[in-house]
Amino acid sequence: MIARLASFRAGLVLATLVFALALVTAGWAQAKWEAPADSKKVKNPVAKSDKVLGQAKKLFEVNCIACHGPKGLGDGVAAAGLPVKPANWTSPATQAMTDGEIFWKISNGRGPMPPWKHLHESDRWALVHFIRTFKKN
Ligand code: HEC
Repeated sequence: MIARLASFRAGLVLATLVFALALVTAGWAQAKWEAPADSKKVKNPVAKSDKVLGQAKKLFEVNCIACHGPKGLGDGVAAAGLPVKPANWTSPATQAMTDGEIFWKISNGRGPMPPWKHLHESDRWALVHFIRTFKKN
């Protein structure tokens, strides 16, 4: 009887721990995503041009559109199945970031947002220019 009670207690403790852990990880997923302070100061070394924007558009259509959607609203065909919604690039929150911060997020990713370090640096900077084209006037 005592042994049974003890194992019931152990089970309860374990269940509580698992529940607490689940809460913590759920919290992480929703925590604000901040790039490191240093990365925010980095200036875009790629000059904006029609050519650069054209190249970035192609990269976007291959790599990003499935989640971020054709208008950058975060409503791509693959978005529905994700536990975290892809960012809406037209939002003031995204557009308020510095180029360096956007570049850092593209490079490092988080959760379902993949890291894009395998894309050439200049391509990632071109994508930053491209994301700016979704800014609402
Ligand atoms: C598999 C789906 C998926 C793909 C593909 C994807 N993203 Fe994302 N992206 C996300 C998700 C989800 C988030 C939100 C992540 C979070 O907040 O934790 C995000 C966030 C971002 C952010 C941060 C915006 C902000 O306001 O914080 C940028 C910038 C971004 N993505 C750029 C890109 C670029 C550029 C590509 C293509 C090279 C790309 N993403 C491809 C899912 C994706």
